[in-house]
Amino acid sequence: MPEHLTSSPRVILITGASRGFGAAAARLLAQRGHRVYGTSRDPASAQAEGFTLLPLDVREDDSARRCVETVLNQAGRLDTLVNNAGVSLGGAVEEATPEEARQLFETNFFGVLRMTSAVLPTMRAARRGQIINISSLAGLVGVPYLGLYAASKHALEGYSASLRYELRRFGIAVSLVEAGNYRTDIRFTFPAQRIPDYDGIREQATAVHDTDVRDGHPPDPVARLIARIVESRHPRLRYVAAEGLESGVPLMRRFLPDALQEWILRRRYRA
Ligand SMILES: NC(=O)c1ccc[n+]([C@@H]2O[C@H](COP(=O)([O-])OP(=O)(O)OC[C@H]3O[C@@H](n4cnc5c(N)ncnc54)[C@H](OP(=O)(O)O)[C@@H]3O)[C@@H](O)[C@H]2O)c1
Repeated sequence: MPEHLTSSPRVILITGASRGFGAAAARLLAQRGHRVYGTSRDPASAQAEGFTLLPLDVREDDSARRCVETVLNQAGRLDTLVNNAGVSLGGAVEEATPEEARQLFETNFFGVLRMTSAVLPTMRAARRGQIINISSLAGLVGVPYLGLYAASKHALEGYSASLRYELRRFGIAVSLVEAGNYRTDIRFTFPAQRIPDYDGIREQATAVHDTDVRDGHPPDPVARLIARIVESRHPRLRYVAAEGLESGVPLMRRFLPDALQEWILRRRYRA
């Protein structure tokens, strides 16, 4: 076992490791002596430092199945799946068509479901395993002009908390990372339709979201937290990765009355 590693080396699959949280976590876990597989829809155009990049589009069943098969064929087992791949969608909730909302959920929610279902038969047979789902503070509270993204992460929260009960008997732990804003390449796309009644306020709120990500901390603390969860003996359900005032969001959610939470978020996003 490498000296700096407190747990035995794991075989880890991280979805969406071409950049952002996924790349930072894959790099760090590889440095710590784990055998790491990351993924990209276009591995040839991405850099992978110390880990293997496999092709994967989490929106496609075959792609998910092939990716997991490759890891199992090469490494002989899979200890930890980190469901990190995700996209964002801004704008007023009313502006998105059901199809645009479905596309977002196809990556942020069904992508997680698809990958988790692909790894579970092997993990259940081994009677051990770990799933880490990258959620968001937007999985805990509603966020103006980021409503469907928040909905996709709320879905992930309910799914993960329920799954954790069901997998406990098989020795498989499920954890959530509720991340605040960090500087990555995540970008807000918008629905094709713009409803003029939201003009101005939509742009104001979006400017706050954009600035939060652009001026955010680099993603290293998220990578370190993921490494801590991977190496934990008894991983919890929830972990928060956030800096400054944002780290108070879970406490706000738990202890403040709804009206006060709304007032704080309205002021924050000028909504
Ligand atoms: N940055 C933040 O402030 C923040 C805050 C809270 C939560 N998060 C969450 O953190 C996760 C990572 O986001 P990030 O900020 O690191 O974003 P990012 O820099 O844009 O990276 C997103 C990753 O997801 C992959 N991806 C996107 N669509 C995919 C698909 N259909 N199939 C497979 N992979 C796909 C991308 O890989 P390819 O394009 O190479 O396929 C890329 O590696 C997401 O779940 C996001 O919701 C981010």
